[in-house]
Amino acid sequence: MPIRELNQADLPTVLDLCQRALPLDTFSAQLIQRHMLDEPERNPAFQFGFWEGDELRGVLLGGTRRIDDGHTLLHRPRPVGVLKLIATDPAYRRQGIASQLITALIERMRDAGLTWLRSGNFAPSYFWPGVDARYTPALCFLQRHGFQRKGDAVNMAVDLHAHTWDTADDEERLLGVGIRIRRAQPSDADAFGAWLGQAWGPIWQWEGLRALHNQPPSAFVAERDGEFCAFAAYNTSSFPHVFGPTGTVEDQRAQGIGRVLLCLCLRDLRDAGCSQAEIGWVGPIAFYARVADATINRVFFWHEREL
Ligand SMILES: CC(C)(COP(=O)(O)OP(=O)(O)OC[C@H]1O[C@@H](n2cnc3c(N)ncnc32)[C@H](O)[C@@H]1OP(=O)(O)O)[C@@H](O)C(=O)NCCC(=O)NCCS
Repeated sequence: MPIRELNQADLPTVLDLCQRALPLDTFSAQLIQRHMLDEPERNPAFQFGFWEGDELRGVLLGGTRRIDDGHTLLHRPRPVGVLKLIATDPAYRRQGIASQLITALIERMRDAGLTWLRSGNFAPSYFWPGVDARYTPALCFLQRHGFQRKGDAVNMAVDLHAHTWDTADDEERLLGVGIRIRRAQPSDADAFGAWLGQAWGPIWQWEGLRALHNQPPSAFVAERDGEFCAFAAYNTSSFPHVFGPTGTVEDQRAQGIGRVLLCLCLRDLRDAGCSQAEIGWVGPIAFYARVADATINRVFFWHEREL
């Protein structure tokens, strides 16, 4: 049987295949680890490769999502099956390898009692909010396998060398009205997690807390009277250079808090040697265009099919 489940020892091989098969993206061992081995509620039956001897010809990473924020899982019975990544070695395409992988996933998910399979529009922990439209063969492939296109999403690019992202004056101004901006710390986990869950729901709670595990923590917060009132994070669900999520509570908006928090995240990324950040799965396009000169650089289509 050429299909075999993946384990820790396969990580370098999976990384090598992703790097060669998905040229619009930059992969690292850490990223594969996050999406394969640290997958939320990981089920190894949904992560497998197509092997010829020791050679990995195709890879599929799937999973399930049960957290519903009232938006992403859209009235589907939970948990919903998700296809996080599928790729075939460029030298072995159009030979039915990915078809065997997706057929196996569908069978395994049916056996597990799942009734819907989605590619994109699920959170937390995803590479992309859908399939990048420029990965056109993948769109054709999904449609060939009974997936229907249900929606789209965009990322926006920010040139990190275009501005200084200096926030000193704004931070001082905000301090003058009782709002303190700072980096979130691992010791915030309990209070920050409780606030995220109550103010923004379980998906952003998961993502915000994930940021605290990064070194340095990749989240900033605003506090007023000792209470959190806004946050922004990067390197949470997707690739390391992707910004989001972020939120300012309604009664503290229009004071420039969100912009300061965004700038702090962008400055971190620049200082880490990154030249372009992406705002992931946007949201308020005009806000990012205005405050960071961000432009839409990626368009994703998301699909689903009944199992
Ligand atoms: C999408 C991908 C996984 C397909 O892998 P594959 O092993 O070549 O797929 P299959 O041979 O099983 O193709 C099955 C069907 O999909 C469709 N398809 C696949 N590639 C296609 C292409 N380049 N153009 C049009 N249709 C295509 C066809 O209907 C094909 O059947 P056919 O060959 O009988 O016409 C592969 O192109 C790939 O690795 N792309 C890069 C990874 C990617 O973009 N992943 C999406 C993000 S997760």
